[in-house]
This record gives sequence, structure tokens and C-alpha cells, in this order.
Amino acid sequence: MVEIREFRYEDAERVSEIVLDSLNEFYPRSLYLEKSRQWPEGFIVGVEGGVIIAMLMGSLEGRSESRILIFAVQNPYRSRGIGTQMMDEFVKRSAMKGVRRITLEVRKSNLSAIGFYEKFSFHIEGVLHMYYSDLEDGYRMVKTL
Ligand SMILES: CC(C)(COP(=O)(O)OP(=O)(O)OC[C@H]1O[C@@H](n2cnc3c(N)ncnc32)[C@H](O)[C@@H]1OP(=O)(O)O)[C@@H](O)C(=O)NCCC(=O)NCCS
Repeated sequence: MVEIREFRYEDAERVSEIVLDSLNEFYPRSLYLEKSRQWPEGFIVGVEGGVIIAMLMGSLEGRSESRILIFAVQNPYRSRGIGTQMMDEFVKRSAMKGVRRITLEVRKSNLSAIGFYEKFSFHIEGVLHMYYSDLEDGYRMVKTL
């Protein structure tokens, strides 16, 4: 089991490292700080032995929707149930805000993540043509609470 807590200002560098390693994306520290300010409970990290090994950054979209913006568990900590713990916590925190629908975007080629989300009853709502910067298509996936 990992300890799950809210993102803090001083986590930005480590979180950025996990995102770069896991998704090959780099975002400025200002994005992490901004999202954490907008909905602190929706930006969580997983900590093991004092080190952050997982992150999930979400946002609130209107009154009844939340969105998973970035989600990653650092290799080699995957497939140990940590993603499940993080997702369960995010669903709980969304429900506490009155959220009825959780959305996310995922690359069409990311079959392991799609399989993971389907396990949590997300379904594909639509295709996002050339959604990513390298022009790969994405799927929008949705879970109803
Ligand atoms: C997607 C991700 C967050 C899942 O986290 P995780 O800690 O590996 O997930 P869990 O160990 O809780 O896995 C739960 C279930 O998801 C499915 N799953 C997880 N990894 C999988 C894989 N590589 N292939 C197929 N199914 C997988 C399995 O059904 C698994 O259940 P099981 O352990 O009973 O077999 C993680 O794999 C990750 O960080 N991937 C790289 C970044 C990424 O793609 N993020 C999502 C972008 S939208």
C-alpha cells in the first residue's frame, strides 16, 4: 500500500520527473502549481518509503464533472495495485465533490492504460483525431458515478 496525499509545492520537480519518464511529456512547474491551487484534493501523489512513485492530477469541469489530466505510476512500481489505489482515491474525492462523470484522454496505442481504465468502468465515448502533438489519435473515455 502506498500513502496517498495531496500534491505540495515542493513535489513539483519529482512529479515532473515521473511524468517525463512515464509519458515522455514535459510540463512547466507552473501548470502543477496552478492545478493544485484550483482543486487541491484532486491532485494526489502516492508515496512509498518517503519517495513519490505515483501521481494523478485532476481538474473540476463545471459542477458535476472531473477530468484526469495526467496519471502515472513510475516504472518499476506498476502492476502492483498502486494505480488502482490512486484511481479509487480520485473517484472517492470526485464523488465527495458531487461529480457524476469522470473523463480522460488516452492515446489509441496505449492499450495497457485503456485496459486499466476499462477495469474501472470507463468506456470510450469518442475518437479525438490527431489529438496529440505527434498527431496520434486519442480516445475520450468516460466513467459515470
Ligand atoms: C496506467 C497506469 C497508471 C496503471 O497503474 P498500475 O499501478 O500499473 O495499475 P494496477 O497495478 O493497479 O493495475 C490494475 C489493473 O490494470 C490492468 N493493467 C495494469 N497494467 C497493465 C498492463 N501493462 N497491461 C494490461 N493490463 C494492465 C490490469 O487489469 C490490472 O489488474 P491486475 O493487476 O489484477 O492484473 C500505469 O501503468 C502507468 O503509469 N502507465 C504509464 C503512464 C500512462 O500510460 N498513463 C496513463 C495515460 S492516459
